[in-house]
Amino acid sequence: MRYLTLPPISTPFSKIALGSTNFGTTISQSTAWHMLDAFFLDQGKTLDTARVYGQTDSEGRSTSERIIGQWIRKNGIRNQITLITKGLHPSPDGSSRFSYKNLMLDINRSREELETDFFDLWFFHRDDPSLPVAEIMEMVAPLVQSGVIRALGASNWTVSRIEEANQYAQEHGLPLFIVSEIQWSLATSTPAAWGDSTLVCMDETSLAWYRQQNMPVFAYSSQARGFFSKAIEDGFARLQEKTRTRFYSAENLKKLERVRTLATNLHLSPAAIVTAYITNETPSSVAIVGCSSVEQLKDTLSGGDVILTPSQLAFLNQGEYDAT
Ligand SMILES: NC(=O)c1ccc[n+]([C@@H]2O[C@H](COP(=O)([O-])OP(=O)(O)OC[C@H]3O[C@@H](n4cnc5c(N)ncnc54)[C@H](OP(=O)(O)O)[C@@H]3O)[C@@H](O)[C@H]2O)c1
Repeated sequence: MRYLTLPPISTPFSKIALGSTNFGTTISQSTAWHMLDAFFLDQGKTLDTARVYGQTDSEGRSTSERIIGQWIRKNGIRNQITLITKGLHPSPDGSSRFSYKNLMLDINRSREELETDFFDLWFFHRDDPSLPVAEIMEMVAPLVQSGVIRALGASNWTVSRIEEANQYAQEHGLPLFIVSEIQWSLATSTPAAWGDSTLVCMDETSLAWYRQQNMPVFAYSSQARGFFSKAIEDGFARLQEKTRTRFYSAENLKKLERVRTLATNLHLSPAAIVTAYITNETPSSVAIVGCSSVEQLKDTLSGGDVILTPSQLAFLNQGEYDAT
């Protein structure tokens, strides 16, 4: 496993982070704990959860946060884990929840469920572009200044809004966004393909901006929901409809053939190649992976130490270089 250090947080972030959307819903507590054990045993340090993951009852409890909080307490390893959660996700009807009252509600519920006094990284799960960045950055600043949030991130924010927010924060001596979390995988996609205009997917212009700013990107759905692994190992017929809608395109089919070639040449699994693509594409990128079993997770983690050369990355992106 390789790591990334993000000052002021002293605990390192593993370049593969374990996602947890389905903990406590389609993934039982017992399987989730086995996955967390396997991840930690393989030197994984970074866990990604959110207030809305597994929010199954009217009190707004998160089964994902609860399962992770209990696992950390039972193992006594809070200081060895970099813990990420997110809040202020829109209501189920799509309306914005951005307000100081809801911010405090989400922060306090996350602290309770995760059984922690602080979050290493806390993200706005979405943007509310109708609000001025000044209002948002002023609202969250006291939580960073008091240490409840060690560092701040923007999830599903466009680069122009991040730039605007950080410029305001800089000019007013407030905490900045130090990380962005967006959808990014070797397989390209768009918010339209996801049927959700509040999402942000990586594109060439944004990637150039992140490189130029040297801002870390935590990539979600980094395995393209298993598009490569499942199509290569089982054929297209077994792809879920949603995976097909989001990722099946002429460009991604060419990339699939390159993943197949590189995986064969390097004696690695497709999941290892696809995960290593994200962890190698920029020095500070992190692949957030979701898996539905310990077996899948072990397969994916086999990409944790893989270093891809610039020509191998160019081959995956454009098919231009010799993959050997
Ligand atoms: N910030 C945000 O708005 C946001 C949005 C989405 C996700 N996230 C975070 O990102 C995490 C990952 O997202 P994701 O679940 O969409 O990511 P993903 O890793 O691209 O997709 C996960 C799916 O890929 C398949 N898969 C995983 N490993 C595999 C392997 N080794 N071989 C074959 N198939 C494999 C599984 O599908 P099957 O279950 O069908 O087998 C699994 O459910 C989430 O858990 C969450 O923490 C954040």
